[in-house]
Amino acid sequence: MAFGVKLMALRDWCRGVILPVSELIDIIRTATEQNRTEQNILDFGAGTLFWTKKLTFLYPESTIYAVDTFYAENEAKLPKTPNVIYLADIAATLTETDFALAWCCDVLHHISAENERGILTQMAAKSETIIVKDIDCTHRFGNFMNRMHDRYINGERIRDIDPKRVAALLESVGFAVEYRYLPKIWYPHFVLIARRSK
Ligand SMILES: C[S@@+](CC[C@H](N)C(=O)[O-])C[C@H]1O[C@@H](n2cnc3c(N)ncnc32)[C@H](O)[C@@H]1O
Repeated sequence: MAFGVKLMALRDWCRGVILPVSELIDIIRTATEQNRTEQNILDFGAGTLFWTKKLTFLYPESTIYAVDTFYAENEAKLPKTPNVIYLADIAATLTETDFALAWCCDVLHHISAENERGILTQMAAKSETIIVKDIDCTHRFGNFMNRMHDRYINGERIRDIDPKRVAALLESVGFAVEYRYLPKIWYPHFVLIARRSK
């Protein structure tokens, strides 16, 4: 992973081609109150900070917690941004902090099924709203194309994510879950918007 300006600009441009960025921004924008100063927003698996930057723009009064295992070894490379806290350990973060919104973009397919259960259960106990964006493995051709993308462009093997399984887990811990399907080119993007039931 790199934070170089030119490489980042190229990556951001590519995202605009393969990701439904404006639809996702609209979903995030309406997820919680934008001007509540005391609220914390979690960007789980924040990576190169593409979504962290959007979150600071959408929630200028909030504190954004950008959490990624990668940051443990790369603290010095991270940009100094007001209202952004960088952390590496999601379990410790969820033990210490409550969140108005937890945003999980393309991170679940990088963790084991066991870790997914543990992290989402802990996240549910500490968050009002959870948004999961990932690739819907039930769309087999698009899922295969995404696996190839991760394998040959990013050099990573990823796990299949079935949105029904993730939704059932969040429902079992007291969340009402809405599914949205947002395909782009051949990528079967899905979003789960999970709100704690009253
Ligand atoms: C495909 S990238 C997505 C990055 C970012 N969410 C985005 O959409 O641009 C997945 C990220 O999840 C991170 N990651 C994987 N397992 C993690 C874990 N257990 N805790 C925190 N971050 C993790 C990886 O280091 C990687 O940066």
